[in-house]
Amino acid sequence: MEIRQEYLKRLPLQKQIEVAENVFRKDYMLSELVKIWDVIESHQGKHVSDVGHKLKRRDIASRITGIGHDKLSKARQIIKSGDKELIQLMDKTGNVNKAYHRLKEKQNREQILKIIEQNKDKQITDLFCGDFREVGKEIKDSSTDLVFTDPPYGKAYVELAKDLSVFCNRILRPGGLFISYCGHAYLPDILNGLSNSLKYLWIISLVHKGQGIFASGFNIKVMWKPILVFYKPPLPQYPQFEDLIMGTGSGDKSLHEQAQPDEEAEFIISKFSLEGQVICDPFAGSGTIFVSTHKLNRIAIGIELNQDNINTIKSKI
Ligand SMILES: C[S@@+](CC[C@H](N)C(=O)[O-])C[C@H]1O[C@@H](n2cnc3c(N)ncnc32)[C@H](O)[C@@H]1O
Repeated sequence: MEIRQEYLKRLPLQKQIEVAENVFRKDYMLSELVKIWDVIESHQGKHVSDVGHKLKRRDIASRITGIGHDKLSKARQIIKSGDKELIQLMDKTGNVNKAYHRLKEKQNREQILKIIEQNKDKQITDLFCGDFREVGKEIKDSSTDLVFTDPPYGKAYVELAKDLSVFCNRILRPGGLFISYCGHAYLPDILNGLSNSLKYLWIISLVHKGQGIFASGFNIKVMWKPILVFYKPPLPQYPQFEDLIMGTGSGDKSLHEQAQPDEEAEFIISKFSLEGQVICDPFAGSGTIFVSTHKLNRIAIGIELNQDNINTIKSKI
């Protein structure tokens, strides 16, 4: 590579273009092409006018190496990051976009982790770390207008459903609503557990955006998700609603693999509560519901078992 770069540097433009033929023929790796590009660009003079060409050096470099400016800029950033895995990925596949996307994801994540670290000592009232059955005791009886939550999926929800219904029956005001995301597989058991201390109202179908995915262990493509609606008696004056919601896409999974999209949470909060009302999410995760509740001028109470998730939520408030 070094010899070729030096060689290129000394060549008049016409010759450099000839070399380009070789570049195409020899199937260089992207990181090598970037080096060649850099050498050509660093050639003296703003325009390569010595052979009468009016093209800018970078256009010539682009012609010689066969890479466009956008691809070059991405490949350069990947090389500059010094991330060997990404450079290898780019060189092996020739696919700069895939490696660039991963680089941006990594940089984003690093940035977010920094913000989380900076905010971890922030005090936020009504955000509790621990099991809802324990730390939830701090929440007063009949103090909550709406429980809107997203418990762990599958069998884990079955085991929690009964305790959750007892807890929600205590903290909800009479006529308060309980709304919960839920999977399909254990629906009868979960409905049963929740019915222990709450009353069933309805199931809303949240239609997934996109192609849907196969449920693991089932030969079924999942196109929608149940959203369960229960209440603490008496039957409340709930707002008029349609039992079908069109999903907005998946949530930001970079900080929590089960994160829900903000837009859906905001839609449900706006529909089923009023400004100033109290909303509790006892399975707050990365805080989609907690943060949306704040944003929509309601009072948020959040409980989450995992301290890292609590730190994530703090960084978002
Ligand atoms: C499906 S995730 C919630 C994701 C959240 N909706 C979001 O958008 O990030 C369920 C969360 O409940 C938490 N969790 C599980 N068991 C719990 C318990 N007994 N008490 C409080 N939190 C619990 C888990 O740590 C997990 O973060």
